[in-house]
Amino acid sequence: MLRRLLLEAAGDVRLRRVAERHPAARALARRFVAGQTVDDALEAARALNRRGLKVSLDHLGEHVARPDEAERAAEVYLRLLDAIAERRLDANVSLKLTQFGIDLDESACERRLERVVERARLHRSFVRIDMEGSGYTERTLAIFARVHARHPGDVGPVIQAYLYRSDADVRALIRLGARVRLCKGAYAEPPEVAYPDKADVDRSYIRLAEQLLLLGNYPGVATHDARIIAHVKRFAERWEIGRERFEFQMLYGIRRDLQEELVGQGYNVRIYVPFGEAWYPYLTRRLAERPANLGFVAGSIAREALK
Ligand code: FDA
Repeated sequence: MLRRLLLEAAGDVRLRRVAERHPAARALARRFVAGQTVDDALEAARALNRRGLKVSLDHLGEHVARPDEAERAAEVYLRLLDAIAERRLDANVSLKLTQFGIDLDESACERRLERVVERARLHRSFVRIDMEGSGYTERTLAIFARVHARHPGDVGPVIQAYLYRSDADVRALIRLGARVRLCKGAYAEPPEVAYPDKADVDRSYIRLAEQLLLLGNYPGVATHDARIIAHVKRFAERWEIGRERFEFQMLYGIRRDLQEELVGQGYNVRIYVPFGEAWYPYLTRRLAERPANLGFVAGSIAREALK
């Protein structure tokens, strides 16, 4: 119930305006977001690289209303890829198609994506297309498949284990040789399209992870779920799948202990590092995953009120 309320709040413009000004919300955002500028993001990437962690940089933003906003988003990604290469960082990029204007003009969105993928190829980097709400799954996978056909290996999609369709999608992506990131899924979805129960989502995650580990192309196992991570490690060992054939992925600011433990054990670990001013929807999704994070905001508002 709380999860659904928070996910609905992610799209609320009035709440967004209040949160963006509130010091407690801004303080919480700093825990999950690496800063506002490209330089902040590059600095965070360097610090993570020093700790043996790979990075994927995400310039926050989604659902742009005008083509010029989508153009600006693409420009930021081009600059980001150049800067990553210049500074020799171990980092790639993650982006959202609603930020690249998929709702305005699908062909223009695909052309913007392709420009970024071409730049990534030039620098031997990689572009991850984040997956958004289920209304975008089909279109996102179709755009991915077309760009992948022209630039195999330079771009990869995300699969959400909570969607019923993901078994079939994973089979198709394995046939394409796609480099997939697997996550549980972070949006409010109806029971017609996604498992409502967490236990079913976890079972689906394990089933899909096993398929990707056995037959996929360098999958990204994106989760902080220690039980699933332990299962993946055991499964890879049993089937003699080397540590170089997959990577774990986690979000900036979450389970640093687990991130370092895995690096210490010789696993590839990539941290998803969001940055920019449009942090509100990203932050509310993180709150929905773990409402205990709300305690931090509530606590500091209460302290302020008692002053
Ligand atoms: P789960 O929610 O079961 O959490 C397991 C444990 O992790 C918790 O018990 C807690 O310890 C810790 N934890 C999880 N979330 C936390 C939080 N917010 N704050 C503090 N602790 C937390 N989703 C999507 O729909 N599209 C996408 O493209 C992506 N991309 C993506 C990239 C990467 C690298 C990651 C790690 C995740 C995503 N996600 C995503 C988000 C994903 O779908 C999911 O919502 C979160 O990862 C939370 O699920 P877990 O797998 O961590 O498990």
